[in-house]
Order: sequence, then structure tokens, then C-alpha cells
Amino acid sequence: MPNGKSILLIVGGGIAAYKALELVRLARRKGIAVTPILTKAGAEFVTPLSLAGLAGAKVYDDLFSLTDEVEMGHIALSRSADLVVVVPATADLIAKMANGIANDMASVTLLATDKDIVIAPAMNVRMWHHPATQRNLETLRRDGVTIVGPATGAMACGEFGPGRLVEPPELLAAIEAKLISCVPKPMPGQALAGKHVLVTSGPTHEPIDPVRYIANRSSGKQGHAIAAAAAAAGARVTLISGPTSLADPAGVTTVHVTTARQMLAATEAALPADIAIFAAAVADWRVANAADEKLKKTAGSGSGAPALALTENPDILATVAHLKAGRPACVVGFAAETEHVIANATAKFRRKGCDLLVANDVSLTGSGIAGGVFGGDANAVHLVSASGVVSWPVMGKDEVAAKLIAHLAALDSGWA
Ligand code: C5P
Repeated sequence: MPNGKSILLIVGGGIAAYKALELVRLARRKGIAVTPILTKAGAEFVTPLSLAGLAGAKVYDDLFSLTDEVEMGHIALSRSADLVVVVPATADLIAKMANGIANDMASVTLLATDKDIVIAPAMNVRMWHHPATQRNLETLRRDGVTIVGPATGAMACGEFGPGRLVEPPELLAAIEAKLISCVPKPMPGQALAGKHVLVTSGPTHEPIDPVRYIANRSSGKQGHAIAAAAAAAGARVTLISGPTSLADPAGVTTVHVTTARQMLAATEAALPADIAIFAAAVADWRVANAADEKLKKTAGSGSGAPALALTENPDILATVAHLKAGRPACVVGFAAETEHVIANATAKFRRKGCDLLVANDVSLTGSGIAGGVFGGDANAVHLVSASGVVSWPVMGKDEVAAKLIAHLAALDSGWA
């Protein structure tokens, strides 16, 4: 899968730097292109020549090289790969990253990049345990940096404990997993500036009588998170929400509806939109013979329970996706599946006429998420489009939302 992908590999100064060479060899065997950046300290442990030879690429090592700047400016370099990887990530590099220090090629790249970052720490066990290092790592985790390792074992300095660089094959597996899901991060406030994004979210309630209704377990968390992420990316957002216990996201116009038919009407009223994302769990059926008065339980009458006749609700996603005039340039559907997730989602993608279908496994066991997807904070999704299926690892619903919006923004030229 990562064949054709590329990484920027920053090699820091530590005794484990030699393992970066093995990583380059393994990555290239998998078809991953590697552009190395060697820090001054890294060059004390491995030579630029061996790194360049194994990578089959130029090694960048000096921020102020005129030749390098003419070939490719350092900002362009920071954006030139799919992923930035730091091996070994020394205590010094970690501290610089956590504090936004940018005074050489490696640290400038780490600050200027719009790509995900993976670091593999390696250092002495006491340096690892030091509160300053742990504080910096916590900052990096919050910033979304993926930290692989360190492993525990005997160290070059003779001590024992956590601080060893993880072995190159394990590191490569982490990089491959990241490469499958990585998309550029939008520039805050800019990626969807000037666009109108419409999002449906939450369940619908279909009345049986004035006090009872048919509903489902959707919490609206994923749809609301998508609306918030689109707003954060600079879009004008209309959120059409069924009944949920969530607060209206800041900076979003929220329209509250109850039934599927109201949701369709509100959606049509909110068009035109550049992107429409249908994350709501719309009830497929409503009660055809909903009562105007509360149905009475007539005990002992022998008449039994009332018969509820169901009738199909309009399919909002399919209606909008098949619009002849005024169809949003990008229509995204969701599919909550409990079995044969990919196969069912692929069939649904074709049937609904959308440009992208985000499928999730909402079965308690299949999702692998304790407590399941409905109502929870985590989600594992598969993106089905005309170009195939891409599976993202389990992540928070906020992260799925941010990644989805970044993905759509990156596809902008395709759908605008
Ligand atoms: O057919 P299914 O309900 O699984 O399709 C799910 C997708 O279709 C979701 O994007 C959902 O918001 C949308 N949908 C809709 N109107 C319906 C049923 C589903 O917009 N009546």
C-alpha cells in the first residue's frame, strides 16, 4: 500500500543513528522514497555519504546552504513528503520540537511541515525518565505527534531500562500504518475559506403518537465534530441536527429538526453548498398512521397492542446526490454497518450516488472499540470512493472529523 509514498527522515545524533540506515534500506525495499535530513550531531554517528547511498537521494544537512535553497527552499522541503520521521529522536530534538525551536534544517522542517510526524526516541534511561523529557513528550502527544517506543533493554552506556530505539522492522510497520492514513493538515482557518459546508447529524425521531417515537442510538458526536472541524477550516457551516444532547458547535449555524422529513426540508433550504456531509442516522421508516392523541393501553379489552404501519422515509443523501441542478460538488455519505462492512459500504456507495462513503463498523465486537461506536468517542472508518477503499486506524471522533475535512480540502481541486 505505501508504495509510491515518501518520507522525510531526520537522523538525530545518538548511538542508535546507525539503525536509521537499516530503516532506509527496509523502507526503500517497500517502495517508500526517503529524503534524509542529517543533524550536525547525527553526522557524528553516520556519514552523509552512507545515508545518501542507501536513500538514493541527496542528504540535507545545512539550513543556510545557498545551493540547497536554490534547488528546493527549506519550507518546500518540509512539505515535500507524505510523512516526517525522526530517528533517533534525541532528548535535544524532542525538547526543540516541544518548544518550537527552529535553528537548523531538522528543527525548521519539524516546525514548518504540514504533514504528520512520527518520532522514535532513543536516549539514556535517566534522560528518558527526566521530568523535562516526559513533559516535552506529553506536549508532543498533545500536538498529535506519534511516538514509537522506546524499547526497554541494555543500553550502550551499560545501564538498563527504557531508552533503546525500537528495531527498524517495527519502526517501518509504524511508518507504513501512518502512511496509509496520512493527509496534509489544513492551514488553520484557510483550507475551506469561502466554501459552504452542509452537515446532517444525530438521529431522527419519528412519532408514534404525541409522546412516543421511533429512534436510534446515534449520539450526533461524529456529525457535530465534522461541523466544528469544517468551521475550524474556515468554511461557512450549516449543521442540520436531529435531537441530541450536544451543544451547538461554535461558529456554526445549527438548524434543529426532529423527523427525517423535516431534515430533508431543512437540507433543501440550506442548499446550495460546496460540500454536503450526511452523517445523520436518519430513521429509514416512519409510522404511517401516527396518532394525534396518545394511544391508550386498554387493559383487558382483548384488543391487544396497536398495529403500527411503517412507511419509508425520504433518503436525504440519495436525493441530494442525484440532484440534476444544484448538486453540491462533493457529496459524502456515512454507513453504519454491523457485518461485511466494506462489501455493504461499497454497494451503498454505488446506490447512493455520493462521491465518498465513510463506513464504520458499529457492531460492539467488530469495531474493536470498547463500548462500540454509537455514543462513544472513538471511531474506526473506511473511506470508499471511486478510487477504492482506504481504512483509517481507530481514532477519536474529533480526529476522524479533522482528517476527513483535511482530506476533502486536499481533494478540493478534484471537486471544485
Ligand atoms: O442506507 P443507510 O441508512 O445505511 O445510509 C446511510 C447514509 O445515508 C448516511 O449518510 C445517512 O445520513 C444517509 N441517509 C439519509 N436519509 C435516509 C437514510 C440515510 O440521508 N433516509
